[in-house]
Amino acid sequence: MIEIRMVRAEKKDAEELASISKKAYESDVEVGAPGPGGPPGYDSPSSHQRFMQFMDYFKILLDDNIVGGIFARSGGKKHHVLEGIFVDPPHHNKGIGTQAMELLWGLYPDVQIWTLGTPEWNVRTRHFYEKLGFIQVGWEKGDSNWRGVWYQKVMDSSSPYEMTKIGELKDGLKDITVEGVILTIASSRKVTSRSTGKILNVANAELGDATGKIVLVLWSEQISQVKVEDRVRIEFGYVNSYRGVNQLNIGWTGRLITLL
Ligand SMILES: CC(C)(COP(=O)(O)OP(=O)(O)OC[C@H]1O[C@@H](n2cnc3c(N)ncnc32)[C@H](O)[C@@H]1OP(=O)(O)O)[C@@H](O)C(=O)NCCC(=O)NCCS
Repeated sequence: MIEIRMVRAEKKDAEELASISKKAYESDVEVGAPGPGGPPGYDSPSSHQRFMQFMDYFKILLDDNIVGGIFARSGGKKHHVLEGIFVDPPHHNKGIGTQAMELLWGLYPDVQIWTLGTPEWNVRTRHFYEKLGFIQVGWEKGDSNWRGVWYQKVMDSSSPYEMTKIGELKDGLKDITVEGVILTIASSRKVTSRSTGKILNVANAELGDATGKIVLVLWSEQISQVKVEDRVRIEFGYVNSYRGVNQLNIGWTGRLITLL
């Protein structure tokens, strides 16, 4: 069996990792992709450097050569999100991806759930993740042409992950994972972004569970991604207080998942 090593990626690796990532993701045209492409920043060395700053990013080594990369984000100790994995196409289907996932899990023995998204059309990754024990819990919706399957793997069913209850949400909490039902969605209003000057639509929804309810702030395309009575999960959201009212925000790095 091929034996890989995983070593934390460094700034100097960004160029090589971005080039391998480009080849790997662009090989998705063979497994259902509508055209060559990849997730945001997949082919850009500066984006890979940014991923190294904000996430746990490891290069995958085979005989001291880089053959791929894997990176994940931690939201507290118990829940991590796999944000990316790629293997150089000549090395596909030799078990490298599987080994990299197992090595990653081994680095974080306290993690109770791993989640990740993959495009619905990607027959290769869906087989890969399902074989590793991931189960679909919902959809991550994009535009009318795209949606992502949202997967979860519970690492040990005898110690299930306890999500935060809506009644426990307090101003200042961050990296929280919460589930609830959309109770109402108010009409959207327009606001000017302070950072870009762009006009954006924003709508307040109400999210409820058995313990309470909270305002959920929806931006732009998120507004049309949910409807009243949908069961949703917010991963890595944060709570702040706006005009004295607590609100749950999804933010740039959070996820809005429509549960099955
Ligand atoms: C996903 C990826 C990292 C897997 O790496 P890998 O080293 O080839 O993984 P493994 O060899 O451990 O396993 C690959 C599995 O996919 C299966 N597979 C390959 N092509 C497939 C296809 N067209 N349809 C279904 N399954 C396929 C293989 O048969 C193998 O499963 P098996 O062990 O049951 O035979 C690699 O395909 C890749 O880099 N893809 C492009 C980037 C990408 O999509 N990343 C994930 C983003 S969500």
